[in-house]
Amino acid sequence: MNAYTVEDKVVIVTGATKGMGLASSKQLLSMGAKVVMVYCSDTENAERVKEELKESHAHLHLLKADITQPQDRKRIVKETLEKFSTIDVLVNNAGVSSKAGFLKESEEEYDRVLDVNLKAPIFLAKIVAEQMIKQQKGGSIINFSSICGHRGSLGISYDAAKAGIIRATQSMANKLGKHGIRVNSISPGIHKTEMNRYHWENETDIFQNMVSVTALKRAAQADEMAGTVVYLASDQSSYTTGTDILVDGGYMCHFPGR
Ligand SMILES: NC(=O)c1ccc[n+]([C@@H]2O[C@H](COP(=O)([O-])OP(=O)(O)OC[C@H]3O[C@@H](n4cnc5c(N)ncnc54)[C@H](OP(=O)(O)O)[C@@H]3O)[C@@H](O)[C@H]2O)c1
Repeated sequence: MNAYTVEDKVVIVTGATKGMGLASSKQLLSMGAKVVMVYCSDTENAERVKEELKESHAHLHLLKADITQPQDRKRIVKETLEKFSTIDVLVNNAGVSSKAGFLKESEEEYDRVLDVNLKAPIFLAKIVAEQMIKQQKGGSIINFSSICGHRGSLGISYDAAKAGIIRATQSMANKLGKHGIRVNSISPGIHKTEMNRYHWENETDIFQNMVSVTALKRAAQADEMAGTVVYLASDQSSYTTGTDILVDGGYMCHFPGR
């Protein structure tokens, strides 16, 4: 039986200083993993997180990088190897939402959302997979999708990107399986993070409607995601690849009139 452990695994987490990325990084660190925590623009927040996690400093490397930039993606891999010598797991968690609905969305906004949520995770996974193949000891790649990847909402680019990453995950799993590299996606339902703060703080109509069709009748806290990330990062999931795990409180099983 494989152990539910991530001890000594080297894990890259993008979007690691906020929301679900932060919660997952904390859980991984508490279980003995070495974590490269990637953030993008909010240095003040990242410094606060670094201070909060000061007891884990030997096991963490905080890195400012924009995953949409090819040279930054290369730097993520380079610094991980310099610091921890190997890469076992990539958590492609970083994401941005679209501000406008379909009819109002500009091409610039579409490109930005597709870049961060679809293109960048694919190309980061590519260079991480190349390294994992060289290492010859397998690995795990975890891509973040969304319930919006399963069912259209209002923002076309976000939905398209999140649907795309589920299919890209299957393609990667097909290609990398023979190297012992597993690739899976996670589709969160509504989690109370920065991304949707306006909605849950103000209990907007959209937020209330989404909660009302969620079986558990509530939104999740960010740390309710960490267990699924740890599961997919650990060898406990050694026969799980090419799949998507919904962590949505029962949003997708909604039955009208429930
Ligand atoms: N929250 C939800 O209800 C929900 C539901 C379904 C799916 N999801 C998905 O779950 C994942 C995590 O969401 P979250 O709500 O926890 O996010 P969040 O709290 O909004 O945090 C997003 C993180 O992504 C980083 N980031 C953004 N653009 C980046 C870039 N170009 N390069 C590197 N890092 C970048 C941010 O860094 P800086 O702040 O430093 O810029 C931040 O750390 C996302 O993929 C999201 O689409 C979320």
